[in-house]
Amino acid sequence: ISAASERRLRNWTSAEGLLRVNARHRDAGRAFLPFAPPSAPPACAPQPGAPGARAPCFLAGDGRASEVPALAALHTLWLREHNRLATALKALNAHWSADTAYQEARKVVGALHQIITLRDYIPRILGPEAFGLHVGPYRGYDPSVDPTVSNVFSTAAFRFGHATIHPLVQRLDARFQELLGPLPLRDAFFRPWRLLEEGGVDPVIRGLLAKPAKLQVQDQLLNEELTERLFVLSDAGTLDLASINLQRGRDHGLPGYNEWRQFCGLSRLETRADLRAATANGSVADRILDLYGHPDNIDVWLGGLVESFLPGARTGPLFACLVGKQMKALRDGDRFWWEHRAVFTEAQRRELGRHSLSRVICDNTGLTRVPRDAFRVGLWPQDFESCDHIPGMDLRAWREAPPPGTGMSFSSRVKVGVWGQEPCVSEGRGGLVWGRPPAQLPPRPQPVRAQEPLRLPGSGGWSDG
Ligand code: HEM
Repeated sequence: ISAASERRLRNWTSAEGLLRVNARHRDAGRAFLPFAPPSAPPACAPQPGAPGARAPCFLAGDGRASEVPALAALHTLWLREHNRLATALKALNAHWSADTAYQEARKVVGALHQIITLRDYIPRILGPEAFGLHVGPYRGYDPSVDPTVSNVFSTAAFRFGHATIHPLVQRLDARFQELLGPLPLRDAFFRPWRLLEEGGVDPVIRGLLAKPAKLQVQDQLLNEELTERLFVLSDAGTLDLASINLQRGRDHGLPGYNEWRQFCGLSRLETRADLRAATANGSVADRILDLYGHPDNIDVWLGGLVESFLPGARTGPLFACLVGKQMKALRDGDRFWWEHRAVFTEAQRRELGRHSLSRVICDNTGLTRVPRDAFRVGLWPQDFESCDHIPGMDLRAWREAPPPGTGMSFSSRVKVGVWGQEPCVSEGRGGLVWGRPPAQLPPRPQPVRAQEPLRLPGSGGWSDG
């Protein structure tokens, strides 16, 4: 997140370090994402009958937040979680400045993203065997690992997700019955009003929990809402996501399918019979080879997508390898990985490990029952448990004694800060930001870049990428 977008996203007048919320709309008392500022030309589709050709989109850390209701709902969930955490942390630590509360809440949200992604989501995608092989257990920060996201990961392998997208947005009422009927994606792209005016976040979250993702089948990899009716802000017409993915791979000069198989230690496919075996689907293999002539020519996104799945996985061996290697690098090469010593205290790590996406849903929506594992489709009502039984973290592990001799509150009398020695203004009052002593900094990799600002764990020293 750039400094400019941080300026727009934060609520700078709150004492608790909150993010801005929508000033015009509420969701049964809960916050919605704010709208993009009036200076940005409105780019989303307006509600029928509303004035103007375009309406404002949601403002979030990522410009794609309004693409589909599910994505907007998830962004909203995390906005609410940040504000819930910041408020609770500030209540536990009255001496914290607004900025400390903001940075500590941001740090916890970052850790939860890491936990939910690597512990709960990725193993379901790779299957247990490939997860063990390519990711394995955490053994600590490794400064020799480059965590940069690779071209093949973002342009091909992780786009496996496009084959899991359901053509309909499923919104369910409190009894898990269809609300307003199913909504085709074509009528949902970049339409924030669908969330604001058609029941809010809860029906979308219920749909995500109780309805399965699209079945990944080899003879309809992407649904037609994506291949015939996709809409993105940068383009006036409708697009084809499969073509975009293939073309993007070529734009980026990605080597072909067989090169990546070899990179992953898998056999190169030379014949029609080899491809038939890798896909376990003769007719799909034939259609692909009729187009491409030889397996060497196959685009890596398509080749990886049609491989038959590993046991207990949602990908074949090539994407399991490419996704697994990337996830391992993102974890092991991150000096601020949540499990790396001194990023959190031992007690905080223990509490973070108790949290889950289901708990985040319980804490930030009107749902009172959820499946314990949000990534496993739940049958209503038998697979749903009361939120009272869903474990979560105890934030008392974040309680800090106020600095001795300063009393409980953050006041202009505060003179000595240990954290970056940066003067800061909170609610118009000057002071110094308090944090943990530098002795707890995780080791910095060498060489140190002279321009790099000193970023402590508690000050949001966290890769945005
Ligand atoms: C309805 C849901 C979705 C829509 C409409 C959508 C659409 C798009 C579009 C239009 C792009 C830009 C393509 C380009 O210009 O190259 C893109 C990129 C991408 N998508 Fe999706 N997508 C969706 C869901 C997903 C899911 C579920 C995943 C993975 C689990 C995923 C992974 C990616 C990745 C990794 C990129 C590349 C991002 C980058 O490099 O910046 N998408 N998607």
